[in-house]
Amino acid sequence: MSSRTRIVLSRRWPGRIEALLEEDYEVWRNDHDQPMSAAAMRQALRRADGFCPTVTDRMDAGVLRVPSPRTRILANFGVGFEHIDLDAARRSGIVVTNTPDVLTDCTADLTMALILATARGVASGDRMLRAGDWAGWRPTHIPGVRVSGKTLGLVGFGRIGRAVARRAGLGFGMRVRVLDPRPPADEEARDLGVEVCADLDDLLETSDFVSLHCPVTPKTERMIGQSQFRRMRPGAILINTARGALVDERALAGALRSKRLAAAGLDVYAREPEVPAELREIGRVVLLPHLGSATQETREAMGMRVKENLDRFFAGEEPPDRVA
Ligand code: DGY
Repeated sequence: MSSRTRIVLSRRWPGRIEALLEEDYEVWRNDHDQPMSAAAMRQALRRADGFCPTVTDRMDAGVLRVPSPRTRILANFGVGFEHIDLDAARRSGIVVTNTPDVLTDCTADLTMALILATARGVASGDRMLRAGDWAGWRPTHIPGVRVSGKTLGLVGFGRIGRAVARRAGLGFGMRVRVLDPRPPADEEARDLGVEVCADLDDLLETSDFVSLHCPVTPKTERMIGQSQFRRMRPGAILINTARGALVDERALAGALRSKRLAAAGLDVYAREPEVPAELREIGRVVLLPHLGSATQETREAMGMRVKENLDRFFAGEEPPDRVA
C-alpha cells in the first residue's frame, strides 16, 4: 500500500499542475470533472489526507461532519471560500487555505472587459452580425455609452477592487469612487486616485457603472436589490465579477426591463450553473460563465498556490494562505 500523502482534486486542473502534484503526492482525480456529490466528498474526507475543492463544491456542515476524518487540510483552488463552512471545518480540526493574489489581475481585466462590452454593445453587435442582420454602417447603429471619463463605483475595495481602480483610472480616465468596511487611508486614496463614498447610497447615486468586488457574507448577501436599483442613476450599468448571491437577480431583471438600468455585465450567478431565464432573455445583459480567473497563466498559478499550501502544511509548517 502506498505511504505517500494522498490528496483528492475535486475537478480536473491544468495538466502541468496535475503532473507536478503527482510527483509529490498520491493524487486522486475526479476524471468525470463534474461537481462531486456530498457522499463523494465525505468519502474523500474519510480516505484522503488533503482535499482540494473549488467553488463548485458546497462543503457545508453536513459534508464536513465526518467522524474522525483523515483529511487535515482543505486547500481550495480559488480565492473565494464562502462555499466552505469554516466553523464546521475548525470543529473537525481541518485547516482551510485559498489562493489570493494570483487571480487579481485577470479578474480585474475581465471586469474591464464587461464594462466595455456592456457600454459598447460588443456582444449584441457580434450576435447581430452572425445572424446576418448587419445592413452596414449608419450613424444611429447601436449607440453605446462612452466609458472614458465616466464614474465607476466599486463596492468592495480589496485586491481586485484596487486592480480595477488602477485600470479604470489610469487607462480610461474614469472617476473612481469606492466603498469598503476598511476604506483606504486618505494618503492611499490620493495615491490611487479614488474617492471614498460615505455609504452605499452615496456610491449608487453618483456612479455610471457600479462594479461589485466584495465577498458574500450574511451582511452582503442580496445587498443589491430593488431599493438599490432605484437609487442608481437612470441608465447606469451593473457589473458583477464577484459572487452572484450579492444581487437579487429577479430585481435586476426588473430594473433592466424597466430601462432603469441600461445594461448589466455578469460573470457570476446565485445558483451556478443556472442562469435565470429572465436575464437570458434581455439582450442588454452580457452573460459570461464564471471566467474571472480563466486564463491558462492564472489557472496554473492558482494550482501552484494550492501546491505551496499543501507542501508547507504537510511539511509541518503554517500554510501561507490559511483562512481557518
Ligand atoms: C475564485 O477564485 O473565487 C473564483 O471565483 C473561482 O472560484
